[in-house]
Amino acid sequence: SVLLASSLLPNRTMGAENPIHTLSPAQSSAQLLPDDWPKTPVLAYGQNIPGPLLRARQGERLRVLLKNDLDQPTTIHWHGLRLPNGMDGVPDITQSAVAPGESFLYEFALPDAGTFWYHPHFNSTQQIARGLYGALIVDETDPPTVDRDLLWLLDDWRLNRDGTIRDDFGMGMDISHAGRMGNYITINGKMPEPLVVSKNERIRLRLVNVSNARILSLHFTGHRVTVIALDGHPVSPHQPNSDAILLGPGQRADIMLDCLGEPGSRHPVLDVAYDEDADAISEIVYRAEEPIRETPPGPVFALSPNPLSEPDTNAAEQHEFVISGGAMGGMQGAVFRGEFMNTNALMQEGRIWALNGVAASAGKMDPAFDLKRGSSHIINIRNETVFPHPMHLHGHAFRVLSINGIEAPHRPWSDTVLVPDRGEARIALVADNPGDWLFHCHVLSHADGGMSSILRVS
Ligand code: C2O
Ligand code: CU
Repeated sequence: SVLLASSLLPNRTMGAENPIHTLSPAQSSAQLLPDDWPKTPVLAYGQNIPGPLLRARQGERLRVLLKNDLDQPTTIHWHGLRLPNGMDGVPDITQSAVAPGESFLYEFALPDAGTFWYHPHFNSTQQIARGLYGALIVDETDPPTVDRDLLWLLDDWRLNRDGTIRDDFGMGMDISHAGRMGNYITINGKMPEPLVVSKNERIRLRLVNVSNARILSLHFTGHRVTVIALDGHPVSPHQPNSDAILLGPGQRADIMLDCLGEPGSRHPVLDVAYDEDADAISEIVYRAEEPIRETPPGPVFALSPNPLSEPDTNAAEQHEFVISGGAMGGMQGAVFRGEFMNTNALMQEGRIWALNGVAASAGKMDPAFDLKRGSSHIINIRNETVFPHPMHLHGHAFRVLSINGIEAPHRPWSDTVLVPDRGEARIALVADNPGDWLFHCHVLSHADGGMSSILRVS
């Protein structure tokens, strides 16, 4: 079932130091396919996919020892967390990659409550696609009352019929088009099982899209859904636009799922991102017994806000990121390792995307912008390509001001914004966390193909 295993809760003995969690990525195998199918050789933090759920309370410190049992270097990036730069897990920029057999201690405070996740940032297209990811839940000091608090890590795998992960990483087609799309979706590392509920139950469901490339748009048919947080941060409770929850790779949504169906009824959960009459990716099944209570759950209240600094949009400095390249993008060329190259020469280097005319190399890069610590900034992200891009900024949360010139409802705080094809997104933030922070597309093949840059805060 999708119940959070309470045995994974870190023990919180009063007054004791928080325990050190150990995460040891290693080769393993997992039953991703149905039981009578072969197991899949994977990379995993421990025995299972996803990796262990890390859970702590807002304001606590997290201590995690990464012990690398892989045969290649790795790191851990804490997606969405505002933490000191040295803990951000980006090889060559915030730390050296952790070699096989070596360890690294991540330790930082948790200023924000919400639903976050962790994953490697070294060879991440492969390491994440092969199973290295897990959730980090930071509990509010005053969490809302719910009947159950559930987590769905949604992943999209590219599998062969024998259950193995297709070994075609780095294909030009994936890099230049929509990314490494898969052919098999799991929830919490398993073939989705029906979610069994009782009438009048209220479930907090935390959705995390950990796919390499697949955009999800989840429609919970027959249910009252209220979005209460996006990318971890509280948002004014609202019904999702056209009833579907749009999640680009890396993004999260916390929803209140009010179960108002009749006992014994069944309701598919659809993914309508690419196709209106798409397949059900799961199903909600009502127990035949009595409702859990007589009356439906009452109003949904807003979560307490996280301690974020509000950008001053009137005084903000304005910047622009232009995304160019990709198949059918018509890019003439870009600067790569300090030198202008035409598109053919770039493709020899595996690069086909650029941010402000620069195709990123791995490792050290010059920052695109140098932002003065404590100042407010508006960044317009203009997408000249024919693909949507989930653009992710490390170490900060930003407000989404508008998408395609239309004011974003509720101006949500986010760390990843889905910029429509040939469209734009405006975001605003206070540059309050010093360091060099990665800004990149979370379609991981696109990041490999050059769609990565740095914001320096100093
Ligand atoms: Cu989810 Cu740069 O990462
Ligand atoms: Cu992209």
